[in-house]
Amino acid sequence: MNDLLAFVRAHPVAGAPVDKAAWFLGELCRGPEAWIDLAVHGRRALVGVVIDTCESADDGAELVVLGRDREVADEAALRAAIDRARAFAAGGPRSALEVMTPGPFPVQLLEGAGFRPSYQLHEMQRQGAPVSAALVPGGLRWADADRAMGAQLHAVTRAAFASVPGSFVAPVEVLVERLERQPHPTRVLLEGERVIAFVRPEGPVDGVGTIGVLGVLPSAQGRGLGRLALREGLAALAARGAGAFRLDVAVRNERALRLYESEGFSTVQVQTAWALPLRRAD
Ligand SMILES: CC(C)(COP(=O)(O)OP(=O)(O)OC[C@H]1O[C@@H](n2cnc3c(N)ncnc32)[C@H](O)[C@@H]1OP(=O)(O)O)[C@@H](O)C(=O)NCCC(=O)NCCS
Repeated sequence: MNDLLAFVRAHPVAGAPVDKAAWFLGELCRGPEAWIDLAVHGRRALVGVVIDTCESADDGAELVVLGRDREVADEAALRAAIDRARAFAAGGPRSALEVMTPGPFPVQLLEGAGFRPSYQLHEMQRQGAPVSAALVPGGLRWADADRAMGAQLHAVTRAAFASVPGSFVAPVEVLVERLERQPHPTRVLLEGERVIAFVRPEGPVDGVGTIGVLGVLPSAQGRGLGRLALREGLAALAARGAGAFRLDVAVRNERALRLYESEGFSTVQVQTAWALPLRRAD
């Protein structure tokens, strides 16, 4: 895998998760058969991966292009990447193949291949202003998620995201492994021993902290816990030196969008997810 990672570092695709490339090509995918490794005239041209291990409301497998040598990877190579991804994903558990734009794929190419717009992803940012954690209601407490909580956290994450498009819930073993390896802990809100909300503050990188994931158990939603979790995450990032914050949210997810706007976030970029059905609906 090291040669693929070296290629990705040398030929990064704008907006692609280069810092997570090892994870995408490793634990997060089904194995080397999920890799898209294209050569043109004997020269490595494009490296991508099909992620179909994660559950999502729209049941999509995502083709993520991680690296592309623009000198050799022309439109024909992009079309070949889609064909390979489609063939691989058709043998997997998902019912659609998805890609994000803007990205390496021109919209015309996607339309020609049968992709249609599915949902939009807003990247939101919020500038500075020190954040302090909100008061926690009686009976509740924050804790760092540990391995022993992994299965419960996975179940709560699945429940919270069951109807949210564009959110990929990794398999339980991947989530547990990640809990141990991530540099900063995922914070969980406990009612007794029960996880009812969670937030994963990531970074900061260059002063910008990311709310990686945030959710509230459906039966506990609407009680102000989403806002509490967001402030907990922002406070953790501010304590680690973040001067600005970012997150991604799917626009069909009006509730989360409203929460973030009311906490000072505004949209800086909108991406569109394009989906290609893999099986007939009947
Ligand atoms: C988004 C989410 C975290 C909000 O948590 P919550 O505990 O229900 O939200 P809160 O009670 O703290 O409400 C916060 C704000 O959300 C918005 N909101 C809450 N319920 C809403 C509803 N039924 N309709 C529209 N907006 C709603 C409001 O703006 C509310 O602010 P208010 O208190 O001033 O009215 C929660 O719904 C969730 O886990 N959703 C699934 C996972 C998800 O979408 N995560 C975010 C994606 S990055």
